[in-house]
Amino acid sequence: MNYGLCSLALFSTLLRASAFSRSSVWRSSSVASTYASTSTSLNSVPSLIVFDLDNTLWTPELYQLRKLARNNQLPVAHKDVKLFPAAKEMIMKMKKDEKYANTKFAVASRTKSVDWAHDLLNQFELKEWLDYVEIFPGDKKKHFNNLKRSSGIDFEEMLFFDDARDGKFGNCEPVSAMGVLSVHCPNGIYEESIWVNAMSQYKEWYAHKTPGTIVEWDGSVTTMKPTDPNERFRGNVQFINREKRFGFIQYGGRGTKDMFFHFNDLPYGDDINEGDELSFTVVTARNGKDAAANIEISKSDTDASDLVNMHVFSMNLPFVALLSNGYKTLETRNGTMFVPYKSGTKMLLHAGQRIYPDGDRHIDVMKSGGLDDDEIKALKSLPPGFGKGMAVAIVELGETFETTLEERCVPDFQQKVAAFGADAGMRATVIRRVEYLKRPVKVSGRGGVFKANIDKSVIPDGWLDDDADSDGGSSDKKTGKVYYSATF
Ligand SMILES: *[C@@H]1O[C@H](CO)[C@@H](O)[C@H](O)[C@H]1NC(C)=O
Repeated sequence: MNYGLCSLALFSTLLRASAFSRSSVWRSSSVASTYASTSTSLNSVPSLIVFDLDNTLWTPELYQLRKLARNNQLPVAHKDVKLFPAAKEMIMKMKKDEKYANTKFAVASRTKSVDWAHDLLNQFELKEWLDYVEIFPGDKKKHFNNLKRSSGIDFEEMLFFDDARDGKFGNCEPVSAMGVLSVHCPNGIYEESIWVNAMSQYKEWYAHKTPGTIVEWDGSVTTMKPTDPNERFRGNVQFINREKRFGFIQYGGRGTKDMFFHFNDLPYGDDINEGDELSFTVVTARNGKDAAANIEISKSDTDASDLVNMHVFSMNLPFVALLSNGYKTLETRNGTMFVPYKSGTKMLLHAGQRIYPDGDRHIDVMKSGGLDDDEIKALKSLPPGFGKGMAVAIVELGETFETTLEERCVPDFQQKVAAFGADAGMRATVIRRVEYLKRPVKVSGRGGVFKANIDKSVIPDGWLDDDADSDGGSSDKKTGKVYYSATF
C-alpha cells in the first residue's frame, strides 16, 4: 500500500471529522478500526450504502397500492409489499461481516407515500439497521446533500442503488454527477451478483473517483461525459422574479430543465427581460443545483430591435401541415395548454420532430369529407424548405371550449380536427386564421406553449399591426409555467 496516499486519506478523514462535531466520535473510531480490520486497503468498502426503496429494496412501487388508501388500509409487509430476497440477504451478510463493521446504511426515497414507507421499514424491521433515512418527494440531490450533512461522509465514500437511471425521474444520473458511485438496478436488487459486482466496482472506482460513474444493470460501468465548465449554452429568459432577483433560462431541447440564474451573475445590472437571448456556462451552485454563470448577451446577426418575442406551440406531421394548409381549423387537446389564451392570441406553429401515430385515420376522415388521394397528399405536405424542427406558420387562436364525445363525433367536427371523435382531445381550440412564415425558422421545440425570439421579417404582413396598442407580451403575468393575458 502506498503510504503517502494512505496518510493523505487519513488526514482528510480527520479533517472531516473535526468539521462535523456530531459525527466526530464515530468517524475517528472508524478510522482506527478500519486500520485494524481491513487487510486489503483503506476504503475498499463504502462508508455509506444508500438504497432507493420502491422497486429497489422492495416491490411494488407504493403508488401502485392506491386501492389500499381508498380503503384506509396500510400496506402489510411480506403481503402487499415484498423485499427483494437479495436485498435482505445483502444487508444481513454485511451486518455480520467484519469488513463492513464501519459501513453505515441509509435509504433515500422520493415516494409521496412518506408515512407508508416509514411504517413498512418498521414492519420489515429494517429501521434498526438504518443509520439515516431521507424520504420525501423531490430531487434526489437534496436527499444526498442531507445525507452528507448528517453523516459527515463525503459523496465518494457512498454507494447508491436505484432502479431509475435517467430522464425526468432518474436518480442514478444526477446523484452520480454529485460524485456518488451509483448502481442502476432496473429490476431491483433481485440477485446477489448485483451487489457483489457493485462492491468490486466500488473498490476499483475508488482509485480515481470519477464523478458521473454508473454501474449499469448488466454489470458494466459507464461514465457520463462531464459537463464541460467552458461549454457555452444559448437560451432565452423564460421567467424573472425581480423582487428576489433571479430567473430561469429556457434552453436545449424538449425535456431540458430551465436553467436558474441570479441577477448578480448578469453582465450589466438588472436590465433584463423575459425573452432576452443569453449565452452562459453551467456551474454547480453551493446548494448542489446547476446555475448559469459567465452570462453574456447572445451575439446574434440580428439586431434585437428586429426581433419579436412570440408564443410557439409544436405539432407533429401530418397535422402541422393540415393546419398550415388551412384544412384543419380545430385543434383538440386533452390538456389545458390553450385554456389561458384569449381569442385573438397569435402564436407560431412549430413542426415537431415526430410523425403523429394516428394509424392514418386522418386519411379516412378526410376521405369521408370527399377528398381524393392527391388532394390529401397536397394538404399533408409542407412547402419546400419547411420541415421538422422549424417554426413554419403563424396562427390566430379563437376560443377554447370543452366538448363531449358526442359533439366530437359529429362528421363536420371530425373533419375540422382531421381525427375521429374518439381520438380527439376533449378541449377544442379554434384556429381563426393561419399563414406560412416568409421563411421557416429553426426553433428547438418543447412541450406546451413556449416562447422564442423570432426575426420580425419572417412574419407575413398584417400579423403584427396591432403591436402598438397592445402590451407586446411584455407584461405577461406568470403563474407557474403558464402565461396569462397572452395577446399580442
Ligand atoms: C384524449 O384522451 C382520449 C381518452 O383517453 C384518447 O383516446 C385520445 O386519443 C386523447 N386525444 C388527444 C388528442 O390527446
